[in-house]
Amino acid sequence: MKVIETIAEMRQQVTLARKTGQTVGFVPTMGFLHEGHLSLIEAAREKHDLVVVSIFVNPLQFGPNEDLERYPRDFERDERLAKQAGTDIIFYPSVQEMYPEAMPMTIHVIKGVDVLCGASRPGHFDGVATVVMKLFQIIQPDKAFFGQKDAQQIAVIMNMVSAFNLPVQVIARPTIREEDGLAKSSRNVYLSEQERQEASFLYETLQIGAEIIKSGEKNRDRVLDQMKARLDKGSGQLDYLTILSFPSLNETKTLTGSIIIAIAYFYQNARLIDNYIIEA
Ligand code: PAJ
Repeated sequence: MKVIETIAEMRQQVTLARKTGQTVGFVPTMGFLHEGHLSLIEAAREKHDLVVVSIFVNPLQFGPNEDLERYPRDFERDERLAKQAGTDIIFYPSVQEMYPEAMPMTIHVIKGVDVLCGASRPGHFDGVATVVMKLFQIIQPDKAFFGQKDAQQIAVIMNMVSAFNLPVQVIARPTIREEDGLAKSSRNVYLSEQERQEASFLYETLQIGAEIIKSGEKNRDRVLDQMKARLDKGSGQLDYLTILSFPSLNETKTLTGSIIIAIAYFYQNARLIDNYIIEA
């Protein structure tokens, strides 16, 4: 496994691979890898000759009061885990390498960002789309692998690929969870012991909502009320709880078709998100 820190060398390696007819699978990450990331790397490994994983904590996607500075990092551990999962190249650029000057232009996401994390993190998806566009240009993958845990991120990236006719296929993979159901996240290390114990109730709440819907309830407000009653018992603070059509992300009083139930929840030092996609 190679670690590449410059865009020029990354480009060279990809060009070389392409010349010999190799396909390229790509997994963008911000590092501090866990089984969620590794499942994406393994999926890429199954399908591609060359597997590239990027590790880059992207300043553009963090708001002024968010956790950019203290985002967890451990490159040596990431290197070991990425290698075990079948990575060929880790692309590990510095901020200076990716943004040698303030970006003279960025991608501004218009559709699908007035809800969920787009609404509570203004500008976040502009930052995500901009860095992913750059990474796609540098790595030129055939397929790029993303986790369903960040469902709105997938929708944004799929829209970007379609809007700009990018020659890459976006693959969505299921959320990997801890044994008690908590979605794996690099930010889980920020939880206190008591918060960690409690945090599985986010997934439980999603399951409660899903069960109510499966049992035939079509009224959005009634489902949300029952879920909120459960969330009110937590020690953190609710950012949002919502049910929207998926992937169009529209709000409808009556639930039909493919829908997403989504939660964002603040603990002392971490904002956690999770979602559940079902047919209503
Ligand atoms: P990061 O949070 O590191 O996540 C990288 C990828 O791992 C994303 O596609 C995310 O959805 C996926 N992932 C995270 N937790 C997961 C879990 N429990 N199960 C399955 N997949 C999971 O998302 C980002 O980084 C950044 O926004 C990025 C796309 C790299 C752009 O900077």
